[in-house]
Amino acid sequence: MKAQEITFSLRRTSTILAVSVLTLTLVAALTGILLAFYYEPTAGGSYNSLRFMTTVIPNGWLFRSIHDIAGNLVIVVALIQLVVMFFGERFRRSWLTAWISGIVFITIAMGLGWTAMILDWSQVGFWRLKIELGIIESIPFAGTALRDILTGGGALNTLTVARMFTLHSYILSIVAVILSIVHLASLVWQEREVKSEALDSTAAPTADSLSTALSDASNA
Ligand code: HEM
Repeated sequence: MKAQEITFSLRRTSTILAVSVLTLTLVAALTGILLAFYYEPTAGGSYNSLRFMTTVIPNGWLFRSIHDIAGNLVIVVALIQLVVMFFGERFRRSWLTAWISGIVFITIAMGLGWTAMILDWSQVGFWRLKIELGIIESIPFAGTALRDILTGGGALNTLTVARMFTLHSYILSIVAVILSIVHLASLVWQEREVKSEALDSTAAPTADSLSTALSDASNA
C-alpha cells in the first residue's frame, strides 16, 4: 500500500472516529438528561434515586448503563482518535483547531468522569473523592480555595453532590458537546482542504503556467 494511501486511510479513520466521539457524547448527554428526571442531587438522595431508577423505573437500569458505558467509552475512543490523527500526519495550521479541540475534549471527558465519582454517593465514590480532594488541597496557595469551591466548604455533603452535579451536567457536558462538534468540523474542513490542494496539483496546466515553464526552459 503506498504511503499516500496509508496516510489517506489514517485520515479517513480519524474522521470516522471523530464521528463516533460526537455520537457517544450526544448519547451520554441525552441519557444524562433522562437520568436527571429522577436523579436527586443530594447526599443520600442521589443513592436512593439511582437505586429507584434501576429497580422501579421501566428501562431505568438500561439508560443508566448506557450513560455509564457511553461516558467511559468516549474517553477511550477520543484517545485512540488522537493517536490515529498523529499517525495521519496532519500537522498544518488549519489543524491546530482539530488538535486543540481534541486534546481539550479528552481533558473535559476525564473531568466528566471525575465529577461523576460522587454522584451515586457510594462508599467507593465518597472515599475516592475524599482522597483526591486531599491532594487538591495540597496545591500551594489555591488548594484550599479550590477544595472549598468543589465541596461547598467543610465535609463532603449535599452541597458537594449538588456542585459536582452542576459541574457535570451543565458546564462540562455543554463544553464537551461543543468541542466534539468543533473537532469533527475541523477534520472535515481539513479533508476538504487536502482534497482541493490535490485537485489543484493535478489540474491541467494554465496558459500562464505553460508560458512560465517555457521561459524557464529557454533560460535554462
Ligand atoms: C457529555 C456528556 C456526559 C458525559 C461524557 C458523562 C459521563 C458520565 C460518567 C463517565 C459517569 C460515571 C459513570 C460510572 O459510574 O462509571 C456519569 C454519571 C452520571 N452522569 Fe453523566 N455524563 C454526561 C452528561 C450528563 C448529563 C447532561 C447529566 C444530567 C443532566 C448527567 C448525569 C449523570 C448522573 C446522574 C450520573 C451518575 C449515574 C451513576 O452513578 O450511574 N451526565 N456521567
